[in-house]
Amino acid sequence: MSAPIAVLTGASGGIGSAIAKRLAARNYRLILLGRDLPALEQVRQQLPSDEASYHLALQVDLSKDADISRVVDLLGDIGRCDLLVNNAGVNTMVPFGSLSKCDLDAALAVNVRAPMLLTQGLLPLLQQSGGTIVNIGSSFGAIGYPLQAQYCATKFALRGFSEALARELSDTQVRVKYFAPRATQTAINSDKVTALNKALGNAMDTPEYVAEEFMRLLDSDERRRSVGAKESFFAKINALLPKVVDNALAKQLATIKQLMR
Ligand SMILES: NC(=O)c1ccc[n+]([C@@H]2O[C@H](COP(=O)([O-])OP(=O)(O)OC[C@H]3O[C@@H](n4cnc5c(N)ncnc54)[C@H](OP(=O)(O)O)[C@@H]3O)[C@@H](O)[C@H]2O)c1
Repeated sequence: MSAPIAVLTGASGGIGSAIAKRLAARNYRLILLGRDLPALEQVRQQLPSDEASYHLALQVDLSKDADISRVVDLLGDIGRCDLLVNNAGVNTMVPFGSLSKCDLDAALAVNVRAPMLLTQGLLPLLQQSGGTIVNIGSSFGAIGYPLQAQYCATKFALRGFSEALARELSDTQVRVKYFAPRATQTAINSDKVTALNKALGNAMDTPEYVAEEFMRLLDSDERRRSVGAKESFFAKINALLPKVVDNALAKQLATIKQLMR
């Protein structure tokens, strides 16, 4: 039987490239997606493979429907898909009043609409293979955080989508999983965000550690996994007693606003 095929969005990024290495080591044949083709090629060339064209790098803008259709058509031609990892994401940490329409549209398109459209387009192949979909959310998919209103809205949406679809497909062979990293050392975080995390004592994981946690979820029967005991605990408190988290974050608000100015 030929190698299983994995479609990985955001493969040029910090977490995506670390996940790509892990999946390639498990013998997945990867379709690496992103807008920055040289960066994707660099990731592709670092992956172990038997032949030059074993893994594919495809330049795709996930905010464009035509590009999403191109991915679905390519996989249709290949005739197989075993794993879809919706990892691409964007974030701009600004006061909501200053958020540009362009950044709002990009967040909705890349963080929510593209994962849903890719999932829908690839579902027939995933049903044939008894495959898996993993949506990469965030600890901010369970905790509303100041200056992250649009990002939280998109990650809450992605978590809701994942949970509903997992339940809808629970009588099929397709598995739907949701993975929530906490702050991680990648380019999605500006220097200001990194300084803020330091000031607030928030842990920032390496992408390699996050990829290791991702593989734990993939290998398990779990439907959801969050990185970080403190963040998981905070998310549970937020669901049960949101006022406690309201008060804790109110105490941090002045620091957040000051450092993100
Ligand atoms: N780092 C964190 O603190 C953190 C915490 C929790 C969750 N996450 C989530 O983890 C995932 C990966 O993020 P990361 O930290 O690895 O960030 P990153 O290094 O900035 O990577 C983001 C990836 O998304 C791709 N992307 C962005 N816009 C795109 C578009 N329009 N079309 C196609 N691809 C696009 C980028 O590729 P191109 O630029 O080449 O298009 C890049 O590969 C995201 O979903 C993020 O929300 C990150």
